[in-house]
Parts: sequence; C-alpha cells; structure tokens
Amino acid sequence: MAAVVLIGAQWGDEGKGKITDFLAEKAELVVRYQGGNNAGHTVVAHGQEFKLHLIPSGILYENKTCVIGNGVVLDPKVLLEELSYLKECGVKTGQLLISSNAQVIMPYHRLLDGLEEDARGEHKIGTTKRGIGPAYMDKSARIGIRVGDLIDEEEFAAKLKRNLADKNNLLTKLYGAEPLEYEEIFNEYREYALKLKAFVADSSLVIDQSIQSGEKVLFEGAQGTLLDLDHGTYPYVTSSHPIAGGACIGAGIGPTRIQRVVGVAKAYTTRVGEGPFPTELRDQTGMMLQERGHEFGTTTGRARRCGWFDAVIVRYAARVNGLTDLALTKLDVLTGIEKIRIGVGYRLGNEVIYEFPQSQKIFRDSVPVYEEVPGWSEDITGVRRFEDLPEAAKLYIERVEQLTGVPVTLVAVGPGREQTIVRESIF
Ligand code: GDP
Ligand code: IMO
Ligand code: MG
Repeated sequence: MAAVVLIGAQWGDEGKGKITDFLAEKAELVVRYQGGNNAGHTVVAHGQEFKLHLIPSGILYENKTCVIGNGVVLDPKVLLEELSYLKECGVKTGQLLISSNAQVIMPYHRLLDGLEEDARGEHKIGTTKRGIGPAYMDKSARIGIRVGDLIDEEEFAAKLKRNLADKNNLLTKLYGAEPLEYEEIFNEYREYALKLKAFVADSSLVIDQSIQSGEKVLFEGAQGTLLDLDHGTYPYVTSSHPIAGGACIGAGIGPTRIQRVVGVAKAYTTRVGEGPFPTELRDQTGMMLQERGHEFGTTTGRARRCGWFDAVIVRYAARVNGLTDLALTKLDVLTGIEKIRIGVGYRLGNEVIYEFPQSQKIFRDSVPVYEEVPGWSEDITGVRRFEDLPEAAKLYIERVEQLTGVPVTLVAVGPGREQTIVRESIF
C-alpha cells in the first residue's frame, strides 16, 4: 500500500509535471485532485515536450490509469482538446477516468473571470481567466453543475436554465455585458457530454480499491502552497486547496491512506500574477534567471517574476503539507552564479522574523534577510548521482535541507525525465 501526494511548495510552476512524470513510472494510478486548466505542467519525455493542463502527468505511460478527481473544476472543451493533442503527438495514452462529482466550467465562468478581474482594477489578482474562481464560487454556493449532471440530459437542462437566468442577470445588469444563449450552450455541452460519458467513474472508489490492493497511487497537485485559498498569500491565491490536505477532499480518500508527501520546490523562486514576493529580483540577476530558466507561463505565456530561494516559505510549506521529502528542481539554472543568496528570514523595522507571517500586510512589507553561499560553474545537466555534483552544489542542497527541515530526496538538473538525481526512492 503506497499513496504519495506531490505538491508545489512555492507559488506554482515548481516542476510538478516533470517530477510527477518521473515518479509515475512506478505508480499504477495518477490523480489530479484540485484546480483546473489554470495549471500548466510541462513534461519532457524522450526529447519531446508535452504541455498538460488538466490530464494528470502520468498519461504519457501507456499502462497507467489517470484520474481527474472530484476536487477539480473541469472545462470539457479543454479536456477534449488535450486528448486530441496527445493523440496528434502520437502518444499511446493510458486510461483516463473522470469523477462524476467534478465541477464543470461553463462559458459564463470564463466570461465572469475576465469581467471580475477588470472590475478589480488596480486590485486585480492576475488570474489565468480560465473561469476557475467563478466555478469554485458556484460549487460553494451549491449551484454548480457536476460532471454527473452534465451527462444526464434532463438534469443538465434544468440546472443550466436556472443558472443561466442568474448569470445573465449578473452579466447584463452588473457588468453591462451581452446575455448568453441557452440553446447554444446546451447544444455545445451536449456534444461534450456524449464524448466524455465513457470516462466518468466513481473515482473515490477506484482509488480506494487501488490502494487497498497494494497498488501505488500518486496524487499530483496543481498550483502551489502559497496559492492555497486558506494557507496562501490571500487574496492573491487560487480558489482551491493545492496543499496535501486537499488531496483527501479532492480525491475522496482519508488522511490515514497517505504515506509520503513530496514538496516540489525550485532552487530559486518564481511567481506569476500579482501579490507580494519578498525575495523577488527586479534586476539583472532576476532577468538572467527568467531567461535561463525559460520562466514564461505554460498556460498564459506571461513572464514569471523571479527571485532567490525563500527558505521561510518552503519551511512553511513543510509545516502545512507535512512534507516528508523535497524535490529540488532547476538546480542547473543556478550554475555560473558566483554567490547565491537564500532568504532565511524577514526584517520588519528593527525586528527579524523567521516564520511565515499570519498577516498579509506584514508579508507584503517584509524585507528578506539573506545568507550568501558560494556558487559553482560546472555544467551539472549530465550529473545523475548526488556525489558527482560540485561541492558547492551539494552544500547548497544541504543548506536547503537544514533551513527547511526536510530531506531533499530528488534533485532535477534539467527538464528531461532522465535528468533527475534520486537520493532515496519515493515508492
Ligand atoms: P509545474 O506547473 O509545476 O508542472 O511546472 P511548469 O511545467 O509550469 O514549469 C516548470 C518548467 O521547468 C517546465 O518548462 C519544465 O520543463 C522545466 N523544468 C523542470 N525541471 C527542470 C530542471 O531541473 N531544470 C530545467 N532547466 N528545467 C526544468
Ligand atoms: P501550475 O499547476 C502558477 C496563479 C495565477 C494568479 C492566481 C489565481 O502550473 O503550477 P486563477 O486563474 O487560479 O484564479 O489565478 O494563481 N496561478 C498559477 N501560478 N502556476 C499555476 O499552476 C497557477 N495557477 C494559477 O497566476 O496569480
Ligand atoms: Mg505550471
């Protein structure tokens, strides 16, 4: 019995797709439990690059079952496009299952995401405008349309009619936008329903049976700890629970089933969208990290803000996720930097704090306290064993372990599946 949850330990884009793909080789089931196509997970396998938004990153193996859990908000159009994209790429995909309780993203969600962002003006969140927030709002308001409703023609018609009446009121009266047509949406989503029906399953049951029968199950988080609705940098967060606890709710399993929680963290830090970021570098070094790390969003193409590794937030991630392991990615991007900095605390006036602050106002005003460590200049992209890394790179990893209190079990030195150093196997 082995269930492992993999989460982002920073603000997303840590390389979860790559590490999931790497670990999926040994797993039988790979499960997405939250978020939607706001995620962009890039996997490089056999020299070919794949960009996944909704389908778990285990799909590139022929014999894996991939599950879209109940906690996901699913845009059926995007899912069908992703399936055809994989087919066009010539990959023999594994089996896909979709929870009948996953929420469906509707056209009005996408539209409202954009209108709400515009209305926020200078207080905008910088969302991906994929309808994620509005879809989760409907879920909480208990008016959402689930996959199970979508594939039931009568239920779908009734729920769409009710919802659309409300949404059209909002669109026209609050935002002065054009109303949406019932028939058009109904017909479009009927098509999707017919295509997706065969994938729909009681995914909680499938996952439980798999765990009970001794199979290995990997839960692939999207976004990251600091984007968590409760534990992130609110309100500059997403509307779901990317942290490890989210896997229980979003997949329908109990916490006692989970053996290990792997936090994926970049060897530096990035963030897309608005919100505070104490170790951000708005200088040449920041631009260098952006260029060398190809730090441009997989989903929206936006440039990612870059900065030094912040040990305070990763130690916080260790706490709220109960991390047992860290996968440190993009270590190769730091090659050639003479002196590398690590944020170890925040200065507020005369005081220095070492824990992630409860108040977002404090976090916003935090000035990082740095420690400087020596860099290395050797190319490490071909290294496969920890002992073969340059001394300074080893010391950097060990310092990350000391500061976060979590062992760095995996180290990524390039985007390719094989560019991974394993210090202890996860499964
Ligand atoms: P995710 O959202 O957490 O899956 O991360 P993204 O896929 O959005 O962004 C991570 C990017 O870094 C992708 O383009 C990966 O191919 C790439 N990547 C992952 N690990 C490494 C690494 O160790 N080195 C380098 N150079 N690139 C990496
Ligand atoms: P992956 O899974 C990085 C950010 C957006 C915005 C905020 C809210 O690839 O790591 P949303 O559309 O979710 O309402 O936007 O969250 N965001 C991400 N940033 N990686 C992601 O996913 C993200 N998904 C959402 O930029 O700041
Ligand atoms: Mg990403």
